[in-house]
Amino acid sequence: MRFLLTFKLVALATFFMASFDAIASEEATASVEAAAQDAACQLTIEANDRMQFNALTMEAPASCAEITVTLTHTGQLPREGMGHNWVLTASGDFNDVANEGMKAGLANNYMPVGDTRVIAGTEIIGGGDTASVTFSTSGMTAGGEYTYFCSFPGHWGMMKGAFKLV
Ligand code: CO
Repeated sequence: MRFLLTFKLVALATFFMASFDAIASEEATASVEAAAQDAACQLTIEANDRMQFNALTMEAPASCAEITVTLTHTGQLPREGMGHNWVLTASGDFNDVANEGMKAGLANNYMPVGDTRVIAGTEIIGGGDTASVTFSTSGMTAGGEYTYFCSFPGHWGMMKGAFKLV
């Protein structure tokens, strides 16, 4: 009788421990998935002294609540002569925002001030510098047409690409 009771207790304890392990393992999986999701919402892009971005398209999961884009200027020229930034608008707004940004001047990073058509934009940087911007995707649409570009005067003809939430 005593042997049977001990056996039952061990069996019960084993059952609870197995359940606990399963929960811990699910939590570990969820945390790995969250980290992967977080990494997918962090994008990088480079710009150089030849007035080029190193990517013609960029995309992030539509499930990202926020996206961070980090721009690195891999050249050596100063921001006044070969400045670059990373600006995001709906594709339909791109031309108008780029033209109005030119008038806003370097002091405003060649972006129209307070313009809600600018979804995101970094400061203008020179060679060797890095700039980041974090923006909410709440006003964006999965599958919508977005354009990223450098708003430095004369650059956006070459320095532009298609951005998508997928
Ligand atoms: Co540029």
